[in-house]
Amino acid sequence: MPMSVIRLARYTPADRDEITGRAADPFGTAGTGLIWRDKDVHFGVRHDGRLVAHAGLVETSVSAGDGDPVRVAGLGGVVVAPEVRGQGLARLVVTAATEHARRTGAEFGLLFCWPRLVPVYERLGWRVSAGGTRVEQPGGAVDMPLRTMWTPLAEDATWPSGSVRLLSLPM
Ligand SMILES: CC(C)(COP(=O)(O)OP(=O)(O)OC[C@H]1O[C@@H](n2cnc3c(N)ncnc32)[C@H](O)[C@@H]1OP(=O)(O)O)[C@@H](O)C(=O)NCCC(=O)NCCS
Repeated sequence: MPMSVIRLARYTPADRDEITGRAADPFGTAGTGLIWRDKDVHFGVRHDGRLVAHAGLVETSVSAGDGDPVRVAGLGGVVVAPEVRGQGLARLVVTAATEHARRTGAEFGLLFCWPRLVPVYERLGWRVSAGGTRVEQPGGAVDMPLRTMWTPLAEDATWPSGSVRLLSLPM
């Protein structure tokens, strides 16, 4: 049965549990000790009334070298219910989020993921940022241990070649 993506009015921890089946650490990031940002805009897929996929967005910015901060749309919380993975649902919610972000005027989409997921996002048009990324944490900026990936949202947007700094908590 074809499934369609919808904008969610909100996305709570209970909604996430509905997708993951209450997995304790669905993103495998608990061991990093990082503090993450909540997302502001949410897209999801429901199947037979159950939420089975989600992607969230939050506006933030990055700086590189001495350059002015650049507006980016942070993508996070991408998760699909284990029983329906491999059916294109991540593509559906990530594409909806990316298209929304393009309309907000952000220059790039930005996300963080483990290396094993890089091929998934590459299939969706994202690229690995070659330099390192510093991100904010309550005690000050730290190196992001996950891969940084970006996608252009504006015409002729060119991602910096060196290291970048996210001017907020990561998402
Ligand atoms: C990562 C995750 C969201 C993918 O969801 P999914 O619904 O299975 O992904 P899709 O079926 O939409 O696949 C998206 C694309 O990636 C490709 N892909 C999927 N797994 C892949 C892999 N291991 N290697 C290469 N490509 C892969 C698919 O073929 C598809 O590309 P295509 O449409 O061109 O064929 C899902 O596995 C998940 O919820 N994982 C746990 C939570 C998590 O780690 N989230 C990511 C946080 S960054």
